[in-house]
Amino acid sequence: VIRDIERHIDSVLVQWEQGASSSFPFIWLKDIDPLGFHPQTQERLFDLTKIDLNIQPSNISFNEQGLILQWPDIEDESFYACSLLKQYSTQCQLVDSAEVAYKSWHDSFSITKFTVSSMSDAAALKAMLKKLKQDGIVIVSELVGEFDGGNFGDNIGFKRETNFGVMFEVFNKPDPNNLAYTDVELPLHTDLANQELPPGYQFLHCIKNDAQGGESVLADGFAIAEDLREQEPAFYEVLSTRKMGFRFHDKNYDIRYCHTLIKEESGVIKEFIFNAHLAQTVSFEDDRAFEYYRAYQHLMTRIRQQKYAISFKLKAGEMMIFDNRRVLHGRKGFDATSGERHLRGYYIDRTEVDSCLRKL
Ligand SMILES: [Fe+2]
Repeated sequence: VIRDIERHIDSVLVQWEQGASSSFPFIWLKDIDPLGFHPQTQERLFDLTKIDLNIQPSNISFNEQGLILQWPDIEDESFYACSLLKQYSTQCQLVDSAEVAYKSWHDSFSITKFTVSSMSDAAALKAMLKKLKQDGIVIVSELVGEFDGGNFGDNIGFKRETNFGVMFEVFNKPDPNNLAYTDVELPLHTDLANQELPPGYQFLHCIKNDAQGGESVLADGFAIAEDLREQEPAFYEVLSTRKMGFRFHDKNYDIRYCHTLIKEESGVIKEFIFNAHLAQTVSFEDDRAFEYYRAYQHLMTRIRQQKYAISFKLKAGEMMIFDNRRVLHGRKGFDATSGERHLRGYYIDRTEVDSCLRKL
């Protein structure tokens, strides 16, 4: 509830009953004016080019429910409900319920496991997704049917199709176009670094894992990046500002993109991309190529340090879900003659997971 308002030169100060106050600039209020949005679709109809940026309301008042502004040349009053203003009460920023701060893995880290039967209600699914965003990984068990893993993702969002299809089968195949489809060891990597937007979350459902070997190996790219930033700031600078090219090509496709291996925003690490198999060489026309090699070789060595790796054997009926732009994954080699190993995977992008979390 609004207790009082104060008109300033280019803004209005709203004093809330609870004691706090928020300042809302006029131009910003004009921009979020509910009259400027389509009533059904909630999409913006307001055109910023049609107004003076120094626009002033001709009248401001308030009641228990919200703020009332009269804009020049507009017949109807614009009403800003308290609930709408409250959503933006901190520096006009929309509160985002999908915002979850990450926690990097340290010595005591262990993966949280959830059972499907415990996730029948919205609150439990929400708790799982929050944990997934915080740790970058969870394991879901009791997915015993062959299609249970794929169906589970339908509760969360749209699957992302890539050149490997919507679903990809991980077992040793004749004539493989990817090392994952053999029985050799797979070093730590993130998937599809060659894409403009490498997929967000990877869902990997274990259908069978009877072969000898084939343990999953994982490492937290954010923990690696944090340590790098602290211990080797010059290398961190190179890897977070200069791009490396990645490429996948087979008989049907040639997909390429360049990324910085580490992406951060306002000092917060947001993405970690690493795939030595898809990496292209550094350009030698660039006289700083040697500098890049030094930083990149250091990162490769660091990624292989045992202290970052966790390893376990995924059991049939378990599915690991991890952030593919954060968590590096790999597997130990396995003996394809000793038994069957079959994983089925798919991706759901970060924005889909966030949307689900907000709706829950
Ligand atoms: Fe992979």
